[in-house]
Amino acid sequence: MSKKVIVCVVGARPNFMKIAPIIKELKKFQDQISPYLVHTGQHYDQAMKASFFQQLGIPEPDIDLEVGSGSHCQQTATIMLRFEPVLDKVKPCAVLVVGDVNSTIACSLVAVKKQIPVIHVEAGLRSRDREMPEEINRVLTDQISDSLFITERSAQENLISEGIDSSRIYFVGNVMIDTLLANLKLAIPFAETLKEYEKAHNIQEESYGLLTMHRPSNVDDPQVLKSLLKSIVTISEKLPIIFPVHPRTRNRIEQAGLLDVINAGNIICLPPVGYLQMLGLMKSAKMVLTDSGGLQEETTSLGTPCITLRENTERPITVEQGTNTIVGTDPEKIKACVDDILATGGKSGRVPEFWDGKAADRIVAKIKKIYLQ
Ligand code: UD1
Repeated sequence: MSKKVIVCVVGARPNFMKIAPIIKELKKFQDQISPYLVHTGQHYDQAMKASFFQQLGIPEPDIDLEVGSGSHCQQTATIMLRFEPVLDKVKPCAVLVVGDVNSTIACSLVAVKKQIPVIHVEAGLRSRDREMPEEINRVLTDQISDSLFITERSAQENLISEGIDSSRIYFVGNVMIDTLLANLKLAIPFAETLKEYEKAHNIQEESYGLLTMHRPSNVDDPQVLKSLLKSIVTISEKLPIIFPVHPRTRNRIEQAGLLDVINAGNIICLPPVGYLQMLGLMKSAKMVLTDSGGLQEETTSLGTPCITLRENTERPITVEQGTNTIVGTDPEKIKACVDDILATGGKSGRVPEFWDGKAADRIVAKIKKIYLQ
């Protein structure tokens, strides 16, 4: 049997922790499969990219398409134009994409138009909010995928209701949790990450809240952003807040003239932190406040209470079984949920089925069966 190539795509920060265990597992079968790693360059800053490759042991990409930032259309179209010649050169038996970012749909669309099968890892999640750019990316990628690997059973119902044949859907668990479990012992203690911030020197284990926020719906409208930041400032009077600030959010805070608002609270703003720093910060937090999808899952795995600053989630299992509560952006609701966690410790939760560190093994075993015959 001749050796087959699978092109694996990453583009943005949350893709890196998903691809790491898949590449590692594929490399165990190097006599049969050769992974070819494409980085689209959607995220390019050292803090948004290089530190993740180093900490997670992801090999240097075989090619970096260097697309950078732009409008959604510019970004998606540029990725497509630069990805097509890669497929012409490499001639893979399949293209594997993860998650729901612009790089995911762009590369899937190129592959399917060239009649190359698409493998989608983390398929079937639905927020039912079509204003979220990621929701469009999810729905479209799933429609054109050949093999769909899902993290929770609700995804199967979503896919079937959209006409996808159940024979192409595989419940394998969560690769993001593979990475979390593999790296837990290496997590950098929160105090180490905070040591250069004088304001944070008195902060103890489980006596701070960790905030992340970058969704366009929360940060692009100055009124919404101001209201959220004011809520956080109020919360910080009882619970110091650690806030690694995403570049998009930093730009919006500056443009909206909201630096004074944030400086008024007991909030320690950090630049974007690496994976191992974030893991340490999440593990030791009293609670996490976030609009990220990945953090909803990671906090469920760690048992840390999570308050989701969105009206919906595409990851319902984190609410049904995990530590997540969907609160939205209403200041009263956010405050009530924080107070509840401070008083009761919050939901205890349990770890969902197959979030056991072996999702990548299951995925690669299936890929071998389907694509290496
Ligand atoms: C993207 C994903 C989102 C994911 C997030 C994680 C889409 C539609 N969105 O959103 O699903 O949760 O990544 O971070 O794909 N910027 C930098 N340096 C970088 C990258 C971005 O400064 O390395 C700034 C630029 O000003 C850029 C802005 O951040 O315009 C937004 O970046 P972009 O890649 O468009 O989307 P994210 O908001 O990061």
